[in-house]
Amino acid sequence: SGRPFVVAIDGPAAAGKGTLARRLAAAFGFAYLDTGALYRAVALGLLRAGNASPSESDATKAALRLDHQWLASPDLRQEATGNLASVVAAMPAVRAALDAFQRRFAAQPPDGAPGAVIDGRDIGTVICPGAPVKLFLTASVAARADRRRLELEARGESADLARIAAEIEARDARDAGRAAAPLKAAEDAHLLDTSDLGIEDVFMKAKAIIETARQARG
Ligand code: CDP
Ligand code: CDP
Repeated sequence: SGRPFVVAIDGPAAAGKGTLARRLAAAFGFAYLDTGALYRAVALGLLRAGNASPSESDATKAALRLDHQWLASPDLRQEATGNLASVVAAMPAVRAALDAFQRRFAAQPPDGAPGAVIDGRDIGTVICPGAPVKLFLTASVAARADRRRLELEARGESADLARIAAEIEARDARDAGRAAAPLKAAEDAHLLDTSDLGIEDVFMKAKAIIETARQARG
């Protein structure tokens, strides 16, 4: 069929979603959308405007006028940005403001790509509930905190493992506990625990799932 093939990837912070999504997109010639970057860009714009505890109305205005310059900022990846992203992501009007862009990307991937890999928290449950492949990545808090620590150290930033683990747990609790599009696996998602899996192992498992689903769709 002519409908783009959508691979939805959800899961908690540092489960390996982006790493997997980028590899899958390259392997299949699909477009890639990091939806967390949208929430992070809203948060970074607010932080830069000096608004570290925005009202829903302020955050929604920032989301509606999302300035794409923030998507390219190295500060997008900072923990402070991720933490405020998860605060504004709990606001229903902020989610609504970012919804149309994500759905359009899935329905019409850029450059005529035959499919899209989209990662976030609610892709398989809310944004693309009809996606033919849904993956839910998990990993222990210890494994995820250690991955973030390595990333921070690679960037020459100081990294306190206990603090990183506490921030990851707080962000997961906020993401899973909110009323609006909480972090959870869709019923038809494939669960992949990556705690003890290398990037290549996760990629091979996901690739096989997608190949099977593509054959089934014909
Ligand atoms: O997108 P998400 O926050 O879920 O995670 P990521 O940014 O893709 O991965 C976080 C870090 O874990 C990256 O530095 C990856 O290289 C690393 N990683 C890993 O060590 N083993 C995996 N199976 C997946 C990711
Ligand atoms: O890379 P990491 O997994 O740490 O986070 P992210 O994917 O960049 O997302 C940052 C925050 O945005 C998350 O903690 C969520 O609160 C929020 N988010 C969301 O609510 N829905 C999405 N589809 C993507 C991200």
